[in-house]
Amino acid sequence: MKILDGKSLALTRRSALADWVEHHVQQAGRPPGLTVLLAGDDPASATYVRSKEKASAKAGIRGEVQRLPSTITEHELLARIEALNADPDVDGILVQLPLPEGLDENLVLDAIHPSKDVDGFHPVNSGALWQQRGEVAPCTPLGIMHLLDAYNIELSGKSALVVGRSNIVGRPMAELLLQQHATVTIAHSRTHDLKSLIATSDIVVAAIGRPEFVKAEWLKPGAVCIDVGINRTNEGLVGDIEWQGLDAVASAATPVPGGVGPMTIATLLHNTVCAWARHTGLSDAPA
Ligand code: GUN
Repeated sequence: MKILDGKSLALTRRSALADWVEHHVQQAGRPPGLTVLLAGDDPASATYVRSKEKASAKAGIRGEVQRLPSTITEHELLARIEALNADPDVDGILVQLPLPEGLDENLVLDAIHPSKDVDGFHPVNSGALWQQRGEVAPCTPLGIMHLLDAYNIELSGKSALVVGRSNIVGRPMAELLLQQHATVTIAHSRTHDLKSLIATSDIVVAAIGRPEFVKAEWLKPGAVCIDVGINRTNEGLVGDIEWQGLDAVASAATPVPGGVGPMTIATLLHNTVCAWARHTGLSDAPA
């Protein structure tokens, strides 16, 4: 079984991106800018945001994190987003999810100008993605596509099963796989007989959020396994796919940690630099 080493690919891509920024910053007239809004004190979100902050700096992105109290009002959050929309030095605005209780996620995300929406969550961007004319795609699924591409995993004509239907992962993942000519099925918590769908799928993307829910023995021999799960258990961090026994059946798989997670961050930087290239009129964009 080939290990799809997201950690190593993410480092390679981040280093290439840093070079790309360095070579274009003079022409652009200013460095790329990314602002992250983190409301509340969810510990996992705080960890993710710190990683995003560090990675941005290393890529030559001028990053800012606004840490806001969980009591922030919708009005105040929207005012901050408006100010960032109007700030010519800001290319990307990311509102870390989940938002504290009582804040309307759709209302907040819709306030981000689509050209600064580096998450690709704005309905203009998700709509464009589904019409194959998107300029940005959500970081986790796009990062998975970069990983599959780097390992030359054939997608055309293959059966791909996406387990999970969130706006962040499952839905955009299905569309990106479809754009590469996979035959895509989306499964979810109401799906009847998930096991038999898994047994016939060449590619399985698990974004369920339940530790080792997918058993190795359910897989089709030779399957490619993409594990989006990050589950904290007493035994440490585990994915949504059982790791024990996977080696005997899968042809390739992403480890947890070190698979999809690092690719998500690398892709956020990629999306930010692409937004910067568009905003400053650079004629090309990073690979
Ligand atoms: N929370 C978990 N994943 C994500 C993501 O990709 N973007 C944002 N903004 N919040 C998240």
